[in-house]
Amino acid sequence: MQSAPTATDARSPSEVVLDRVTHRYGSFTAVQDIRLAIAPGEFLALLGPSGCGKTTLLRIIAGLMRQTDGHVTIGGEVVDALPPNERGAGIVFQSYALFPHMTVAANIEYGLRARGGMAKAARMAMVERMLDLVRMRDHAARLPRQLSGGQQQRVALARTLAVSPTVLLLDEPFGALDKNLRLGMQIEVKRLQRELGITTVMVTHDQEEALSMADRIAVMSEGRIEQLGTPEEIYDRPRSLFVANFVGTANLFRGRLEREGEGFAVQLDAGGRLPVASPGPCSRVGPVSVSVRPEHLMFVPPAQGLLVATVELALPLGPTVVHELALDGGGKVKVTLARTGGHACLAAGMRTGLAVAPCAPVSVFQA
Ligand SMILES: Nc1ncnc2c1ncn2[C@@H]1O[C@H](COP(=O)(O)OP(=O)(O)OP(=O)(O)O)[C@@H](O)[C@H]1O
Ligand SMILES: [Mg+2]
Repeated sequence: MQSAPTATDARSPSEVVLDRVTHRYGSFTAVQDIRLAIAPGEFLALLGPSGCGKTTLLRIIAGLMRQTDGHVTIGGEVVDALPPNERGAGIVFQSYALFPHMTVAANIEYGLRARGGMAKAARMAMVERMLDLVRMRDHAARLPRQLSGGQQQRVALARTLAVSPTVLLLDEPFGALDKNLRLGMQIEVKRLQRELGITTVMVTHDQEEALSMADRIAVMSEGRIEQLGTPEEIYDRPRSLFVANFVGTANLFRGRLEREGEGFAVQLDAGGRLPVASPGPCSRVGPVSVSVRPEHLMFVPPAQGLLVATVELALPLGPTVVHELALDGGGKVKVTLARTGGHACLAAGMRTGLAVAPCAPVSVFQA
């Protein structure tokens, strides 16, 4: 027996294409020449620092503002001239914007009523389905002020999903939640997104959130996309110093890229020579900066170290310990060790050598 079609699976997910989208507020360019194709069902994160143009871009996709230049295509249709309610995109804001005088159920029903064309019984069936989807059935009769932040956010999400958008737009959806609630909601949203297979664009300035939730990440800086790639690509092969620093923690060492046999090596200014089989993004011989993640450095006896340093601080962070060290040649470096790895944790004042773990992704940038 086939189950009756419901509004959430009545439409298939849409591809979203941004074609050279530029937006200027007066003489200030907030987003510039954005080219992006988001596949049907894909979860894309727009990640970048405050003011880089994330919300502007999301509002342009939603149709809440019109871009100065370029085109937006949703599901194969150019939507530049369409108002928000005809684009098939649903947006969830950081501030949940629930109607305070309406119950949870009435809030969820609101969009369906506003759109019209649906009988009361069908509307109620959809509300029921949404309540189950976000696990709020027990709270259907409550008012927003009787809910926690996470619960309010779930209602906001249900209200948006109730009208069966083909594209889900999320603007810092977990920004107001504390850490534990945030993790719970991240898992919940990811589950819903998978279940519904809905094309999703999420704005965040939280790199961990982007790395853990998105299929692909567009890292933005000053209105442009610095790098577009999978979380692994962004983290392991940052294409610029900006991306290396913004996503995760990067230890930067200055040195000189030289040829060595078939490959390359970086002669570090602080002493030591680091073989790099295939340097990137810069492979031009000359002055460079090398970036190594804290979890890719290891402690070795000082005589065997690429670099020698003194531990200044050891910070146990649950499953890991972060060490901050002062390099002999000047400068600081961070080393992260898993506490389960059987490594000895070093205490402040101890001297140690540092080596780069074999096969660690190392990025080389033009200095
Ligand atoms: N209505 C406006 N008029 C003029 N400038 C604006 C307007 N809205 C945004 N801006 C500017 O455009 C730039 C991008 O703003 P936007 O809100 O898109 O940034 P964001 O990446 O979402 O930042 P945040 O992480 O702080 O939310 C900022 O420099 C902002 O000051
Ligand atoms: Mg914003």
